[in-house]
Amino acid sequence: MAATIAICDDDQSFVELTTRYLVFHGYSVWSAEDPAGFTARALEEPPDVLLLDMQMRGGGGPQALAAIRECPELKNLKVIMCSGMPVEQMALWAEGMAGVKYLAKPFDTRRLGQLLEEIVPKAAFIAFTRAVSPQMARCELTHLERSVIDVKRAAAQHEAYEKALSKAGCDVRRLSAAPDLPDSVFVEDAAVVFDELAVIARPGAETRRGEVVEVEKALSGLRHLEKIESPGTLDGGDVLVAGKRVFAGRTARTNDEGIRQLGLLLAPRGYVVAAVPVTGCLHLKSAVTAFDENSLLINSKWVPRDAFPGFDLLEIDPSEPYAANVLKLGETLIMPSAFPKTRARLEREWKKPVIVDADELAKAEGAVTCCSLIAARRPGEPRAGC
Ligand code: GLY
Repeated sequence: MAATIAICDDDQSFVELTTRYLVFHGYSVWSAEDPAGFTARALEEPPDVLLLDMQMRGGGGPQALAAIRECPELKNLKVIMCSGMPVEQMALWAEGMAGVKYLAKPFDTRRLGQLLEEIVPKAAFIAFTRAVSPQMARCELTHLERSVIDVKRAAAQHEAYEKALSKAGCDVRRLSAAPDLPDSVFVEDAAVVFDELAVIARPGAETRRGEVVEVEKALSGLRHLEKIESPGTLDGGDVLVAGKRVFAGRTARTNDEGIRQLGLLLAPRGYVVAAVPVTGCLHLKSAVTAFDENSLLINSKWVPRDAFPGFDLLEIDPSEPYAANVLKLGETLIMPSAFPKTRARLEREWKKPVIVDADELAKAEGAVTCCSLIAARRPGEPRAGC
């Protein structure tokens, strides 16, 4: 979850501007215009960091800081004192107060960003998710028979999955819900995020094209955007990224023109895109996902092994054809509980995965990678999702 920053300041324009900056950078923010208001709210909704004005009407920052340090619930709170006076003078005022940093106003927002990063380091990944639609029973199905979907159960599984993402080091950001788009929980299909850019997909199923609007909005502040254009089609679930090697599944959802456009967009950034024939499943990533830049988990009944030259390939257990979809996030591997035999192989050959229940979501032909769109926070972060 995003860190929460409280601002205690009676200068409304400062509060508004700083709030805008912090929200843009993924923090949760609340504010109070005096120390009493701050303390009352902080006891209900403890922040991770307080930006405290030094000279407020009705009580100065140093007195407020002293009161905070006396309060058992708030005494360890990290504080950044802000004022128009020089930093050295502020330091004198708040002498002896541990856990306090100083920022002279007006300040460079980058300096605020650096200070916050030191105090509350951000998660390594941003994971965009989207709520399960109440219309999920009307989802697209290609290789599965339609069965009754318990939407409440699917939503509970999705929430537990989001918690697993948080634990794995993600700042989980839920996009606005799209109740009228039955497949919108499968947010991976709407884009592919690289360190250098994000490619907005053009989903092969017409019923899913509306899903990209919100995803495009969310990514626009984060990456340079490019788009797959008609007549190209491409689902994010058909794109497997392993370092600079990118594999694009040729499926009912992704056509040759979509793959060609992807190749043109990525070539200047040093990526090489290869098309892979897929049979028997919806997306390439139903059949193969990556542990790292050199190792893949694969169901070779659905994709040919020789499409991945130079990789170490671990086969799923043949009795569990849907087991090849796992989500790699840094050092964590997330996989569904439904595949115990493949899980045992993974534990033996690679590492112990984190297990989530996803069988209700799987009835809509979705898997663990489909339910999030992952963006590495810093370029060069070991790529997630793969
Ligand atoms: N139900 C997921 C899809 O068909 O895209």
